[in-house]
Amino acid sequence: MAAAEATGRRAEDGSPYPDREQPSFQRDIQRMFTHIAEGYDGFDHIASVGNDFIWRPRALWDLDRFRAPGPVRRVLDLGCGTGDLAVLVARHFPRSEVVGLDFTRAMLEKATVRHGAARELPRLDFGQGTGLRLPFADAAFDLVTNAFVMRNFADLELALREARRVLRPGGVFLTLEITEPTSPTFRRIFHAYFDRFVPWLGAAVGSAGPYRYLPESLRSLPPRTQLVEAMYRAGFSRVETRPQSLGIVTTFLAEAGPSNGAGSQSR
Ligand SMILES: C[S@@+](CC[C@H](N)C(=O)[O-])C[C@H]1O[C@@H](n2cnc3c(N)ncnc32)[C@H](O)[C@@H]1O
Repeated sequence: MAAAEATGRRAEDGSPYPDREQPSFQRDIQRMFTHIAEGYDGFDHIASVGNDFIWRPRALWDLDRFRAPGPVRRVLDLGCGTGDLAVLVARHFPRSEVVGLDFTRAMLEKATVRHGAARELPRLDFGQGTGLRLPFADAAFDLVTNAFVMRNFADLELALREARRVLRPGGVFLTLEITEPTSPTFRRIFHAYFDRFVPWLGAAVGSAGPYRYLPESLRSLPPRTQLVEAMYRAGFSRVETRPQSLGIVTTFLAEAGPSNGAGSQSR
């Protein structure tokens, strides 16, 4: 444990500071979320100035306008973290079975504590696994959701193919992610806040590395149009984007095409 803990980049305060260029990147992401799991929700509400309470429900309204009518029976919430989106989805589709999957045990433990009394619990299951090799059969889900996870994948194209593989044809992949604001003026204000104030706030709570990594992770994410192209390459046949809060976040909606995608990994 001590030897493993010693690897990976760290900030001055000792907190994990993942470096995408390093082979240990995915493990370092896990260490980072283990480090911030306890304070994750509180920090999220403060850093987003409460907007995160709106973004997730709004993404589900976007979904309702996008998808063809029909039952939603099985849902996967990928990178579920402390479980907020998984619970909202279970509430939104009251006949569905929802699986929340995450590769960071500490985040899943937090999810279980936070939502242990939720009415939706009998239909909601949390489990550990990676989005780069989903532990599910082909076409197992009607809907796959993920919020604020994409930026953390070592191999984005592989993650998209995996999401496509576990969706039935016609199923929907919903991604909610931080994106570049659409207006150049607002973009400058946003970056002053996101690149400087948020890391400063992170350092103040002993998490300099994670909240310095946050703006870096946005820079590593392809722009909206390229992300949409990547979704088509992964086997989605209809993709739409819905910017929220002047484009600070975007809901990406992608319908699974009839085949399993060019690069899918059937097993
Ligand atoms: C920023 S949090 C978002 C959590 C939650 N979706 C939300 O809306 O608050 C990102 C989550 O994705 C998880 N994650 C990152 N990479 C992952 C991967 N390759 N496989 C599974 N989970 C992953 C992290 O452990 C973390 O809990």
